[in-house]
Amino acid sequence: MTPPTASPIDLAVIGGSGLYKFPGLGNAVRRAVDTPYGPASGEVVVGDFAGRRVAFLARHGEGHTLPPHRVNYRANLWALHALGARRVVGVNAVGGIRDDMGPRAIVVPDQIIDYTHGRYTSFCDVDGAEVKHIDFSEPYTAALRRDLLAAAARAGVAAIDGGCYGATQGPRLETRAEIARMKRDGCDLVGMTGMPEAALARELELEYACLALVANYAAGCGDEAEISIEEIFAHLAAATAEVPKIIGALLE
Ligand code: HPA
Repeated sequence: MTPPTASPIDLAVIGGSGLYKFPGLGNAVRRAVDTPYGPASGEVVVGDFAGRRVAFLARHGEGHTLPPHRVNYRANLWALHALGARRVVGVNAVGGIRDDMGPRAIVVPDQIIDYTHGRYTSFCDVDGAEVKHIDFSEPYTAALRRDLLAAAARAGVAAIDGGCYGATQGPRLETRAEIARMKRDGCDLVGMTGMPEAALARELELEYACLALVANYAAGCGDEAEISIEEIFAHLAAATAEVPKIIGALLE
């Protein structure tokens, strides 16, 4: 399969729950990319933002039709890479486990624990592919994390530096016991889409960092007996509104 002609892309953004279109993307063109791994979550929208070329892909599809365990992470990253992206920011809705990571907090995590299962976790998962054992001691690209944090500061948006992202299978939220275990393991945040995305990005030698938007306290971490989906989306909308400010500053 021939990748489409690569055009320089300054940054790719993968939007999570609540971010299905990138606001302010000018002169946008939609690119459907064939991949050897099947269809991506949708067309990649490429346009101008803050004077740079930005590619945007809605991880769950623009109508949020793909649950976390059915997202074709390989196709998504392959498509962005094929279009010429080399730096990728994954925006992920998460639950907060650590006290200071309550609803609407924005976190740039620095570690991951993967609790997902049954997902394609590698581009080596195909007959005849070269087997690669990537170093994943630091799962996110340090320079891009630093740039994101500096951009948030310039944009006047508070962002927490570091934290361990626990990736769960979903689509259900976790039990209190599962979150208590994750806390003992050292997780600060919980989300359903951080993996295998980060590992696949590393296999493709993409620079990759995560902008985690806290939608709720994880099960048993806040005062509420139950987590309301309406509240999750209200908090997410507020945190999501800060994303273009941070990305704009990142592209300065
Ligand atoms: N758990 C897992 N994923 C999430 C949560 C949560 O509590 N909130 C938003 N995404």
